[in-house]
Amino acid sequence: MIKKAIYPGTFDPVTLGHLDIVKRGIEIFQELIIGIAENPKKKPLFSLEERKEMFEESLKEIGLYDKVKVKTFNSLLVEFAKKEGAVAILRGIRIISDMDHEFTMASLNRKLYPEIETVFLMPSDEYAYLSSSAVREIAFYGGNVSQFVTKFVERKLKEKIARIKGTV
Ligand code: COA
Repeated sequence: MIKKAIYPGTFDPVTLGHLDIVKRGIEIFQELIIGIAENPKKKPLFSLEERKEMFEESLKEIGLYDKVKVKTFNSLLVEFAKKEGAVAILRGIRIISDMDHEFTMASLNRKLYPEIETVFLMPSDEYAYLSSSAVREIAFYGGNVSQFVTKFVERKLKEKIARIKGTV
């Protein structure tokens, strides 16, 4: 059986920290699917389609486009995992305080679908404090995000923020 895993998230936008987890994930699983959640409760800055495009273009930039599939979903994560035939959910743990939230999610997901395992990976130290909301905030105030995201995402952030601020 092919060991397929889902790497889910809102990815609003995808950061180099997320891509670091992808790099590690493809070393472990035979097939990795990025599952971009619609997640309306987070009121994402980017639409689902924009987030998918940013993930795909970022994968191209780092030469991993052929190694993973990028899909979107608007359901329970476990339903999506079941539909895709995944045996595992991959999540990144950056700092100890992530644990509470991640353990709760993993335990609920296991109750909903006992056949699925959640696998936690640690990103490289340099991304330990990185998050999509931090990237959005830095970009909003005109800060340099080039060390946190790919060139494509940097450009999309600039365009989006200029539009929001009404300068385009
Ligand atoms: N590098 C950089 N940032 C990382 C990271 C990494 N390696 N790993 C996590 N993060 C960041 C994310 O960017 C996010 O930051 P943000 O809040 O600033 O955007 C944060 O850590 C984690 O946020 P969280 O809300 O826990 O996860 P998520 O947005 O990545 O994804 C889903 C959450 C999509 C997995 C979850 O909402 C879900 O499963 N939704 C589907 C509905 C469902 O099944 N619900 C029941 C779940 S029990």
